[in-house]
Order: sequence, then C-alpha cells, then structure tokens
Amino acid sequence: MRFYVTTAIDYVNSRPHLGAAYEKVTTDVLARYHRAVGRDVLFLMGNDEHGQKIEKAARDQGLEPLAWCDRMERVFREAWDALGCSYDVFIRTTEARHRRAVQEFLVRLKANDDLYRSTYRGWYCVGCEAFKKEDELVDGRCAEHPAREPSWLEEENWYFRLTKYREPLLRHYAENPGFVRPEFRKNELLALLESGLQDISVSRAGATWGVSFPFDEASKVYVWFDALINYATGAGFPDDAASFAKWWPADVHVVGKDITRFHCIVWPAMLMAAGLPLPKVVFGHGYVNLPGGRMSKSAGGFVEPTELARRYGADALRYYLCREAAWGQDLEFSEDRLRIRINSDLANGFGNLLSRVAAMAHKYQGGAVRADVAASPLVRDARAAIARVRDAFERFDLQGAAAIAVGLAEAGNAYVDARAPWALAKDPARAAELDLVLSELAHLLLVASGLLLPFMPVQAAEATRRLSGVAPDPRSHLISLERATIPPDRPLEQGPPLFPRIEAPRPEAASG
Ligand code: MSP
Repeated sequence: MRFYVTTAIDYVNSRPHLGAAYEKVTTDVLARYHRAVGRDVLFLMGNDEHGQKIEKAARDQGLEPLAWCDRMERVFREAWDALGCSYDVFIRTTEARHRRAVQEFLVRLKANDDLYRSTYRGWYCVGCEAFKKEDELVDGRCAEHPAREPSWLEEENWYFRLTKYREPLLRHYAENPGFVRPEFRKNELLALLESGLQDISVSRAGATWGVSFPFDEASKVYVWFDALINYATGAGFPDDAASFAKWWPADVHVVGKDITRFHCIVWPAMLMAAGLPLPKVVFGHGYVNLPGGRMSKSAGGFVEPTELARRYGADALRYYLCREAAWGQDLEFSEDRLRIRINSDLANGFGNLLSRVAAMAHKYQGGAVRADVAASPLVRDARAAIARVRDAFERFDLQGAAAIAVGLAEAGNAYVDARAPWALAKDPARAAELDLVLSELAHLLLVASGLLLPFMPVQAAEATRRLSGVAPDPRSHLISLERATIPPDRPLEQGPPLFPRIEAPRPEAASG
C-alpha cells in the first residue's frame, strides 16, 4: 500500500520559525509511522518561491529573486535536516518541472472553459498574498498583517470559475465525511461554501516574478494558484505518468489552520476542473503560540527551532511537539514546559528505566536477560499497546500515540518499584524470579522503544539497539514489534543516559 503525504510549502521571505517546524515535524512523525507499518511512503515538503513577498525580500537584500531562493533552500533544508525530517521530495516552485505542471493545469482549465478575462478592482494583501474583500479588512487593514497597508488593484486578470464548483464541492463533502480533519474545522468551510463563492482572480498583470500563462505571456500566475499545484508536480504531474498514477491522489495534505480555505475549497475545485481526483484528507493543524500571542514571520516573536534542537536535542523537541498538545489544536509554547516534559517523560521516565534495567542486569546477573516472557502480563499488556498506538496514528492522534508509548515506561518504573529487584538479588533462591522481572522489563522497553521510533528516530533506535543488538528497520519495525525478543546470550548494552536531566536556568542573582 502507498501513502503520499505533504506539508504546506514555506514562503522563503525569512528563516523557518518554530511554527513552520511544528508542521514539518508532526508530519514527519506521521510519515515515519506509515513507513514503519510497511507502506510505501512519499513525503513531500518544499519552498514556495514566487509572489511579491519573496521578490521584495530578495530585492531588500540586493539579490535577484532566484539567487535569494537558492540561498533560502539551503537554510530551510538545513533546519529540516537538523530536526530529523525524512522528506523524500523537496519541491521548489521555481523548478522547470513545476512550471510545466502549472502551465498544463492552465491549458486544461482553459480547455474546460474554466478561465475567463475580467477586470479585478479591489484590495490585495501582500502579507497573505491574497485578494481581500472590503468586509475582510479591519479599519482598512488585513487582520493578519495590520502593519502593511493593502494595495488597491485595478487590473485585467484571468479568473477561475470557482463558483461552478460549489455544488460539486458540497457533494464531495457530503460523500466524503473524512475529507477535512479534524472534524471541527469542517463547519467553517461548509459555512463558506453555503454562503456562496466568488470566482477568483488567478493572474497578476505586470508582475515579473512568477510563472507565465502559456497563452498570455504578459500575465503571471497568482502565487497561490501556482503553489497548490506543487502537490501534483511532486507526484510526477504531468510528464511522469507512471509516478503520478502511483502516487496521486495524495492521502493527506497537512496544512496550518490559516490556509484550509485554499486547500479545502480552491484546490479541490482546481483538481475537478483539471479532471483529476481529489486528495483523500486535508488535515488542518493548529498554531504554535507564544505567551505573548501568535508567532509569525511578520508579527515577530521568533523562536529558532534549530537552536532549541541544539540545546535540548532534536528527538526530545520532536517528542514534546507531538505530546504537548493534541494535533489539530493550538500549542502554547514555553521553554519551561519543554523542560518539564523532557525531564518527566524522557529523563526520569523512559531513559531512566532503560538505564536502570541495564544496570541491574549487569549488577546482578552478568548483563543478559534469559527468562521466557510469553506468559508475562506486563509484556502482554505492552504488546497490546502496539495496536492501540497504531489506531491512534490512523486517527491522527499523535499525542495519544506518544502518551501510550511513554506510559509503558511509566508502568515499567512502577513495576521496578513494586518488584524491587534489589531485594530479589539478595536471595540466591530467587534468581529465576529476578531474571524474569528483568526480562519482562527489557521486553517492555523494547516495545516502548519501537513505538517511540517515529517520534525519536535517533534515540529510540539507539535504545532498541542497546536492548537487542539490532537497529530497527524503519520500513517494517512496527509490523514485527509484537514478536520482537531480546537475545538471551547478549548482555544489554549500557551507555550514557539517552536523555540527561535538564536543569532549570538559575534565576539571575539578586543585585544590591
Ligand atoms: N506558502 C504558503 C503555503 C502554500 S501551500 C501550497 C504559506 N506559507 S507560510 O510560510 O506562511 O506557512 C507555511 C505553513 O506554516 C502553513 O501551513 C502555516 O499554517 C504554517 N504556520 C505558520 N505559522 C505557524 C504557527 N505559528 N504555528 C503553526 N503553523 C504555522 O502559507
């Protein structure tokens, strides 16, 4: 079975912040889960490089737009690599193959009589790269970008007959109740559809930075129209027919809640017009907010994800981002909460159990664990958790999946306290019992490590290796995890703590 998953593609007017990283990391966790259950995964990320906003950012730096985008590609890829994002395709909208895809779309839409010329008179917000109706402005300003004055436009444009697709879209929503996730995001979109749509302008007259219309060189494609098509390009549209047939339609587009309208209304209508099937799910995640409010490129409040990864570890940061808030809701970011999460769940929880069990095995019985755990309720429950984690992932419940996995370590630590292996070790007649307890714990840890692998690809793999001597196979480990065992003739490996406790920064010494 194949699984095609995408994130939104980022504007490259500035460096990636924690909000953008949140989207990429959570989607990466989902992609890794699907690989781990044996699916053939295509995971697309990339950069959105056209539009006025990018052109201006480049010129402000004294660079040609493409030179700026080349530079930003490195910046973004470095950030995503530092966070362990395992994308298969990194698309750039300035690539020739993408221009080709956009132009093919336009040709199809025109042939279908879905494009026509008309005059646009109205506002445009460069911050959103979106046309704005009068009633969308607050005191004449865009609510998302109050610092920028919207521009008044009067230009001859190409229009897309979005209105023609209102009925088909409503039908699609009715027939595919899982199309928009989480469920609560659907109402807003349905309200929009029901209140009526307007045709949308899809060209910018006189713009120089963008894809040209194949039948009108003087017009450039409106940046959103261009950007949405990236998902088709990434799958091979239009020239690589075999690849496109294999990967399209996408299984999930993961996007922020601010851009669901483009993904759940405009993009499906464009696909219908081009005669292509619709993606199966659009998942609208929440925002990462700072105590002071929203984090955004224009509103300031910038948190560097790579700096957090350097200080706390990429895996720990990934775990926190998934565990702290339900996927779909907003996440209130605070470094205190990050520290608390790492200490309680990873340092004192999972990591400590791993160190304790290996240390006791070495101290009391030469390092290896040999008992048969087939009849152990502890191990049976741990193995039963695999199905619950899989179910959580299938429901996009990354938080639930993480909680179940780490909950196993919690149960393991409680079991250590209840069975007190140090007391068993004092009585040679109870050596078999001691070995059973340590074997049960080691097998529980093997399951927990396997379940944590999508969240923490480096540290959880290291834990698996220390326990079993074998690194997990990212393309199958969740299929075989239920049967995974620890070789009785190999000592558990000890090593430095996987998650050192993080001390709170000292308060500034009081002066005077
Ligand atoms: N280029 C468009 C998307 C085109 S997709 C065909 C865009 N770019 S963006 O750089 O502004 O945003 C990229 C993604 O990051 C979007 O999904 C957006 O919702 C998300 N986020 C931006 N700020 C965010 C937070 N503070 N928190 C979480 N996600 C955030 O929109």
